[in-house]
Amino acid sequence: MEVNNTVSDLVLFGALGDLAQRKLWPALYQLQRAELLAAESRILALAREAMAPETFATQLAERLAEEVNPSELDDGVVQRLLAKVEYQALDFTEAEGYTALKRWREQRPVPLIVYMATQPTIYGLIGEGLHQAQCVGSDTRVVIEKPIGHDLASSREINDQLAHYFDESQIFRIDHYLGKETVQNLIALRFANNLFASQWNQNHISHVEITVAEEVGIEGRWGYFDEAGQMRDMVQNHLLQLLCLIAMDPPADLSADSIRDEKVKVLKALRAITPDMMDTHLVRGQYGAGTANGRPVPGYLEEEGAAGGSRTETFVALKAEIENWRWAGVPFYMRTGKRLPKKLSEIVIHFKAAPHYIFAPDQKHLANNKLMIRLQPDEGISLLVSTKDQGLDKGMRLRQGPLHLNFSEAFDASRIPDAYERLLWEIMKGNQYLFVRRDEVELAWRWVDRVIESWEESGEAPKRYAAGTWGPAASIAMITRDGWSWHEEDG
Ligand code: BG6
Repeated sequence: MEVNNTVSDLVLFGALGDLAQRKLWPALYQLQRAELLAAESRILALAREAMAPETFATQLAERLAEEVNPSELDDGVVQRLLAKVEYQALDFTEAEGYTALKRWREQRPVPLIVYMATQPTIYGLIGEGLHQAQCVGSDTRVVIEKPIGHDLASSREINDQLAHYFDESQIFRIDHYLGKETVQNLIALRFANNLFASQWNQNHISHVEITVAEEVGIEGRWGYFDEAGQMRDMVQNHLLQLLCLIAMDPPADLSADSIRDEKVKVLKALRAITPDMMDTHLVRGQYGAGTANGRPVPGYLEEEGAAGGSRTETFVALKAEIENWRWAGVPFYMRTGKRLPKKLSEIVIHFKAAPHYIFAPDQKHLANNKLMIRLQPDEGISLLVSTKDQGLDKGMRLRQGPLHLNFSEAFDASRIPDAYERLLWEIMKGNQYLFVRRDEVELAWRWVDRVIESWEESGEAPKRYAAGTWGPAASIAMITRDGWSWHEEDG
């Protein structure tokens, strides 16, 4: 069992914001519950709003009561967490606030974690404020969230600003998908099982599917989302990170740089999607009215706060190709969208059939093994294998069934930790392997920018799909044209 022997203080900028409320405070609560927060660690919560410390404490306790599963809510734990927390109003743009922060720091010189749960546009400002107030030391860690820019140029600007005050080894860029239990399991599955490791290439794998589907729509975030779209909001980060973990070569060890060096090689080998590939490699969609959870829901353009005429995509399907020895000729089909039939994040690895097939010709479709890695919900791994059907009358008829590993059942785990719990825990330990390095972010933008340029050049509007369906028909056509189908259509 892991214990936290290192005392560090956490300063949380944006302590009243959406991310802090929905994810960070509940994660800190769970870390406290698991006794992973060192007894002497302190948390300084910062936001613009002037508020009495008691009011903040009451509001935080109420919020935890809403966010935390009732069976895991324990007042004793809440009180122990609150005892570590102090609230201060701070205007990020004014030097005064940082001076107060410095006084707080000086009470006890332990390593500092600075979590910027704010707009990326002010990361630089906060860095400067901290630096000028001499709050930054070589043991300071800074945590930032996506979106890191809107394109390569703006992401460079943000990264440059941070680099002015912090060394790369101090910067923890969060992609919360890397904190998901099954995503880490992908590393274990690939590199701790030679059975898979030896098959993991174009000799044995025909194609790969990555699906990150959401049932929700825009959920009151129309303004932000319309600027970004699904390509920038999901593909640039989460989907490309998943692709890297599936496609990378075995790292020499588990150190952050060994893993990230391998991911970078994959990003460098991604084939650019150019205008002439628009019909075969890319589908963009935007949802119209339809249903979710059996109820009628409005289309993207009718959502609260929507401005008419938007051509922002809420769905993307892509065929990515990796130009190296391991993956030549193996398409990686990726799709992600809002208002799809259900929340589902899944990777499906399709293995090639044996070179010669000896069973009934009408069962040839059972010749391929599939490895399904389910990120959410029902985290687990299934390997579809063919066996003989049972019974005297069946002869050598085959059937395909799963070898199934459900994580909750297998490990008797009553709960799977949320990604933010894992990520905060790794930050406290100073381990960067689940965080994104600058070159990864920038290479991902370089590729995504090229895709966006290509579709802008084409002038095509996104295709309509009804809410509650698997996206535009063109997404099905894209994969069918190559002789495959999306996994859920296989029945
Ligand atoms: C975020 C995106 O990064 O990930 C959201 O900005 C999206 O648009 C969310 O809804 C999905 O995360 P999860 O963990 O619910 O799959």
